[in-house]
Amino acid sequence: MNTDSPAEGEQRPATTAITAGRSANGTSLASPLWASSTWVSQSLVDARKRATGRRSAEFYSRYANPTVRAFEEAIAALEGADDALAYASGMGALTTTILALCGSGSHIVAQHQLYAGTLAFLQGPCRRFGIDVTFVDGREPGAFAAAVQPGRTMLILAETPSNPLLELVDLDELGAIRGPFKVVDSTFATPLGQQPLRHGIDLVMHSATKGIDGHNDATLGVIAGERDLLDEIWSYGVLHGATASPADALNALRGIRTLAVRVSHQSASALQLAKELSASPHVAAVHYPGLPTHPQYDLAQRQMRHNGTVLAFEASGGQAHAATVLDQLRLARVATSLGGPETLVCHPATTTHASLTPEEHIEAGIVPGLLRVSIGLEDPIDLIADFTRALSPQ
Ligand SMILES: Cc1ncc(COP(=O)(O)O)c(C=O)c1O
Repeated sequence: MNTDSPAEGEQRPATTAITAGRSANGTSLASPLWASSTWVSQSLVDARKRATGRRSAEFYSRYANPTVRAFEEAIAALEGADDALAYASGMGALTTTILALCGSGSHIVAQHQLYAGTLAFLQGPCRRFGIDVTFVDGREPGAFAAAVQPGRTMLILAETPSNPLLELVDLDELGAIRGPFKVVDSTFATPLGQQPLRHGIDLVMHSATKGIDGHNDATLGVIAGERDLLDEIWSYGVLHGATASPADALNALRGIRTLAVRVSHQSASALQLAKELSASPHVAAVHYPGLPTHPQYDLAQRQMRHNGTVLAFEASGGQAHAATVLDQLRLARVATSLGGPETLVCHPATTTHASLTPEEHIEAGIVPGLLRVSIGLEDPIDLIADFTRALSPQ
């Protein structure tokens, strides 16, 4: 049984996706767009109050914006968090959090299995700012805890399921570590797939650009957790300035309303496609947590509410074969990003993870024939036919 299931009588997440983030709506059913960058004060005293208060509702949009606030409230409700903060992108949320909580001499423990942008930030700017990072294998029991340096490790950073190989971190084990702040990038799960805070994690972040928005029409990030910690991040973030756009927040808020039906359709289709690909003689391996052959299948069943909307597979003929498959696909499109209505395929070695060295590719398991598939909302029968034809020798 999934330990992330709501308790008896507790509102189900799919319902929260409909009810949350409406506090500023008035009688409007649709969320209003507050495009304003600034608000009028009634007096000097009023202006001072707005300027000096934390996250003042109507002062200046870099501090707070009502449409962005509604999106933050929806994410906080879905994650079971005190509160949330939205940023201009997933990377905006992540880098603001790291720079708010760490400084020169701080230590971070992170897993190898990370989105390449996150990895590049930890290896480049963090080191340049004197923030030391130890990388561990996030699948290895005890690996995070063993790398913690008491009194120096400020933060542990995990991503589960990871991009692009869908490797998992045991959230209960990570949540039990005492001392550093534990941050989980839960983008691939969406808030409907798992709730890391229920497992003792301090902060959960998403690239809301992906499944949360769900329509490829917003670039947005969000971080949720305890209010005190978020206040700390807000104080730094208001100076850093990776401010979320209200238009993107509005699109993502609309996306949240259909998140449950989208992820349920997409993960059911993903499982069907994963099974078909596993049986294909032209596929060397399939990576999908919903397959019983996935090395962490039991963990996925325990901590995730759905199997996920993304899978990866290895074309048996290596990079040349992967290139042919991309050329032959008619329905699935070749594009980066994930979580939208259209099925998207990308070749991680030359796109999302192109910045890694050949050694890092090997270490991360990103082989030349690997293709990542974000399952869309098409009928799975058409998708399976598209992949079967594209994989067959031409
Ligand atoms: C797991 C994960 N985290 C973070 C990001 C960064 O998000 P964004 O592109 O919104 O900055 C991505 C982007 O692909 C991602 O896949």
